[in-house]
Formats: sequence, structure tokens, C-alpha cells
Amino acid sequence: MHCSKANEIMEREKFSSKFGALMVIIGSAVGLGNIWRFPYMVGANGGAAFILLYILFAVIICLPVMLAEISIGRKSRTNAFGGMYRLSGEKKFWKGASLLYLVTPCLITFFYCVIGGMTIEFFFRSFGLNIPSGPWWTLLWTLLFLGCNAMIIMGGVKDGIERSSKIMMPMLFVIIVLMALRSITLPSSAEATTGALDGVKFLFRPDFSKITAQTAIAALGQAFFSLSLGSGVLMTYGSYVERHYNVRTISWQIVLSDMGFAIIAGIAVIPAVFALKADPAAVLSDNMDSALVFEILPEVFPMMPLGGVLQPLFFFALFLAALTSSISQFEVPVAAVMNDGKVSRKKASLILLAVFTVGCTICSLVPKTISIFDAIASNWLLPIGGVLAVIFIGWFYSKEEFRSELSSGDLYPTGNRLFGFVLLLIKYIAPLGVLAIFLSKIFLTR
Ligand code: PHE
Repeated sequence: MHCSKANEIMEREKFSSKFGALMVIIGSAVGLGNIWRFPYMVGANGGAAFILLYILFAVIICLPVMLAEISIGRKSRTNAFGGMYRLSGEKKFWKGASLLYLVTPCLITFFYCVIGGMTIEFFFRSFGLNIPSGPWWTLLWTLLFLGCNAMIIMGGVKDGIERSSKIMMPMLFVIIVLMALRSITLPSSAEATTGALDGVKFLFRPDFSKITAQTAIAALGQAFFSLSLGSGVLMTYGSYVERHYNVRTISWQIVLSDMGFAIIAGIAVIPAVFALKADPAAVLSDNMDSALVFEILPEVFPMMPLGGVLQPLFFFALFLAALTSSISQFEVPVAAVMNDGKVSRKKASLILLAVFTVGCTICSLVPKTISIFDAIASNWLLPIGGVLAVIFIGWFYSKEEFRSELSSGDLYPTGNRLFGFVLLLIKYIAPLGVLAIFLSKIFLTR
């Protein structure tokens, strides 16, 4: 009975329109990864050279991984834990390997909710409220954010969040563009020795000597994190996508919009650091608490027309963007526990809420856990999860089936040349690329 209830919910949750599907998947991709993580990763890893690597990896490694993951989800019509298992004709190995898709989204949720909580805190702060800080306050905001996730995952507020994110995501985009414009035109402050233009140069004039094994693995991790790849999210969401939607088109749309958001967020933050801070290099490299965005943007708003109104709007929109990403992480293990454990959605959500509460409490109270969990999950587990998906599709799955999956929803079926190229990326380039980056990180870093 429970199982049929779960199935019924899964049925109901098929995305209703192409636009809706696109918004939900972009909603998962665009989040704190673009606005909180990208600017400080760029700052800490040498600027333009990092951005170039990130774009390269997004196109030659992440795009093929995305095609593989969405196809697995849509073809198998089941959650990330069971997708490859079902398509492989129930080979146990793939079920074991897919355990990764339970572990990784949980690990990410643990620290993501802490930063999500900061968006709520800064929303209230932007009204000039004098809010105390400290680990216990951080925990409070974190649990508040986690609670919002649980409510959405459990009850049908999903419609509400989808509808509101259709308004809030474009609004976030407009505000971040305005901030980028303000950031590059900021006059230098009295204490600064550099100007906004130095920040623009830092972002766009690559210094190839800055490319190291560390930069490469950080750029790879950033691309995977920002596109929600390797975490099971795109398999799970892919299983809700209708067949008349073309996987190639949706993948390009996601990659381009995600990249656009990130680069504009970088422009909003980095030049402002150069214009306002005495020692920008120190500010950028010292990211102990990874709170660059939360430190610098509140200094920029007062220097903008209507800044007083834009600031709370921005943090509210960022809160929603974070929420649409974190519910996608929450949904992966919930869908798996629901289907495989044959329990109701509510029960599955409560089990995971308990797990998340413990993990989020650790991340809120124990210093440095955020960056440790982040580095393990983003730099290692996500790429491994992505490689598993391309290896499955490239080496263990029927080419014809995959080709028909890629072509479905398209007036023009995937031609031989294009398909050959996609297969080359999936079979060789993506897995070997990730392997090369891993090996260089292991052997070339002192
Ligand atoms: N892509 C999200 C962001 O950029 C984070 C995320 C990672 C979501 C992994 C789901 C899975 O904020």
C-alpha cells in the first residue's frame, strides 16, 4: 500500500511542462554554488586561469556527464540509487556503486544548509537589525533553513516554490547584474591601493603560471558542484522529465545559464574587493570561513541607488535559489529510501531529516568542517559519481538505446557524426580527464 502511494506521488511529480522542467533543473544548478562558492574559489585559485579551466571542464567533462545522468534517470524512470541497476539488467555491482548517490548529497546537505541559513540571517540583517552572532546562532539559522527544506519535500508546497522561483530566479539575475555593474564602476575607497579595474583584470586576464594541480582539481570540483553533477540529482530529476524533451537541448541550456550566473556573480564580488579593501590578495586568499559574498556585498549595497531595497530582495532571492538547490539534494536520498525501502514520502523525509539534523549541527558548531566536507564531496566524490555514470553509459549500456534517448524529443535525430563525438567524450575524454586531474593532484602536490 505504501509502495503504491509512493509510486502515485512519483507519477504526480512528473514535470508538467518543458519550461517547468527546465526551471526546476536550473533551480537545482543555480544556487549558492554560483553566488557564494564561485567568487571565493576564483579568488582563492588565481582568477582568470581558474575560470578558463572551469569553462573547459564544464564543456568537455561535465556536459557528457550530464547527458549520461539525465538519460539514465529518464530511461530507468527510477531514483539515482536504482537507475543504473535497473538499466544493467539488475547487476548487483551497479547497485553497490550507486550507494555513492546516497552518501554524496547527504554530505553536501550538511554544509550547504549552514550557508543557506546565512542567507536568512543576512536577510534579517539587511533591515539593520542588530542580530547576535556565534555558533549557536549559526545553528539556529541552519536548522531554520533545513526545516524549510523538510516542509517542501514532505508536503506539496513544491508548487509554491516552483511558482515563486520562476519570479525570484529572474529577479536574482537582474539584481546580480546591477551589482556587477556597480562593482566594476566603484570608486576606490580611501584605504584601497587598487581599483575595480584591477579586479576585472584578475577575472579576465589569465596568468597561466597560476595553473597547478590544486587549481585544476578545484575547477573540476566547482564545475561538478555548480551543475549538481555526480550527486544523483540529475538522475533523480531526469526520471521526472518527459520524453518529448530533448536531453541535448536541456543540457546546453543548463550549462550556459549556470555559467552565466557564476561569472556575473564573480564580477559582482571580485572588483568590489579590489576597490574597497586595503589588501585584496589577502582578502581573497584568506577564506577561512568562506564568507566572501556575505562580507563584501553588504558593503556594496549602500553605494547603490535603491540599495536599501535591493539588499533584502537580494538575500531573499538568494535564499530561494539556495532552497531550490538544497531540496534537490534532499530529494535524492528521499526518493531512494521511498522506492527501495518501500516507505511513504513522509516517513522517508523524516528519517533523512534526522540524519541531516545531526550532520548540519556538526557543520554549524565545529570549525572548519564546512570546508573539509565541501572539499571531500566536491573535489572527489562528485567527479567519481559523474565518472561512474559515463562509464556505465559508454561501456556497459546499449549504444542504440542511448542514441534513441539522446534523440527523443528532437525533430532531427542525433546524426552519426554527432553521436560518435558524444561517445568519444563519454567513453574516453570525460573519464580519462577526471583520472588525469586526480592523479596530478595526488602525485604533483607536495
Ligand atoms: N548546484 C548547486 C549550487 O550551485 C549545489 C548542488 C550540488 C545541488 C550538488 C545539488 C547537488 O548551488
